[in-house]
Amino acid sequence: MWVSLLREWYDAIKEAQNVERVEEIRIAVFGKKGVLAVEFAKMKSASDEEKSKIAQDLNTHKSALMNELTQRKIVLQTLELEANMRAEAIDVSMYSSRSESGALHPVMETMDRIVEYFSSMNFAVKTGTMVEDDFNNFEALNLPKYHPARDMQDTFYFKDEMLLRTHTSPVQIRTMMSTKPPIRMIAPGAVFRRDYDITHTPMFHQVEGLLVDAQGKVSFANLKFILEDFLKYMFGDVDVRFRPSFFPFTEPSAEVDISCVFCKGKGCRVCSKTGWLEVLGCGIVDPNVFEAVKYENVSGYAFGLGVERFAMLIHHIGDLRSLFEGDIKLLEQFQ
Ligand code: DAH
Repeated sequence: MWVSLLREWYDAIKEAQNVERVEEIRIAVFGKKGVLAVEFAKMKSASDEEKSKIAQDLNTHKSALMNELTQRKIVLQTLELEANMRAEAIDVSMYSSRSESGALHPVMETMDRIVEYFSSMNFAVKTGTMVEDDFNNFEALNLPKYHPARDMQDTFYFKDEMLLRTHTSPVQIRTMMSTKPPIRMIAPGAVFRRDYDITHTPMFHQVEGLLVDAQGKVSFANLKFILEDFLKYMFGDVDVRFRPSFFPFTEPSAEVDISCVFCKGKGCRVCSKTGWLEVLGCGIVDPNVFEAVKYENVSGYAFGLGVERFAMLIHHIGDLRSLFEGDIKLLEQFQ
């Protein structure tokens, strides 16, 4: 009777479709309360003669079943593995739209936009040099030695009165010394100062602007028009205001504010509750500057701005230093 009973299990093993089913069968046949255990238990009541025969048979089936079970398990495992591999197959030749593409640093992107605006207004792009001399950086810009206005622009000095330029204004001097008026130029580039805090880094970028008219007909109104137009191009619909200020190389001078881009002029933490953000300096070129470059009977306007400040306001960045930490996770937000 047990042989036919066991027969069923041979069939069951053959028909098992997955590894879990094989395990179920293993427990049903070989488990503590499994079919074999029950059959071995029944043996007790048999005669000695029968016992050895039954035991022999049962043991033969035991190892045969175990063998079948192991074989079936291997077959099923192999099939499952193949199915998984098929399901997870990667087509290495397939085009991936997720490939990473590089992007411009937000400071460079902002600088490009500034250059784009002034190029469209026919301003030529000049570069100058980062290692400057005292004459171009200070003296010719009406900043004589020991003048207190120099204190705000401490820098890194080399010997022979050479230094890392503290602003892009010396490019005005270089351009005027090497060309005749009229001039319409901007100078984007890196500048250096001995500063380091939440709004200052030792290296940053500026864009300088200079327009010189050979007929001496440039007025503050011309300056006001172009800067208002420029600031609306950069920041959208903002209010612009000119505040009287002082720069040694311009007279009169002004600082230019835009209505706060964060609170729309209502007053917030960023604009110190004033509703305004200072974005650039400008003015009518001081006669002493024209004298230093030996220009006569001309007039002009000039302006200078910090590119990082523009980038921070456009992208709502809180700490200027984070722009220079090379943190890709931070920078890729501005792509
Ligand atoms: N050079 C000034 C600075 O670094 C910025 C500046 C102000 C430039 C007024 C100008 C100007 O040409 O007219 O702070």
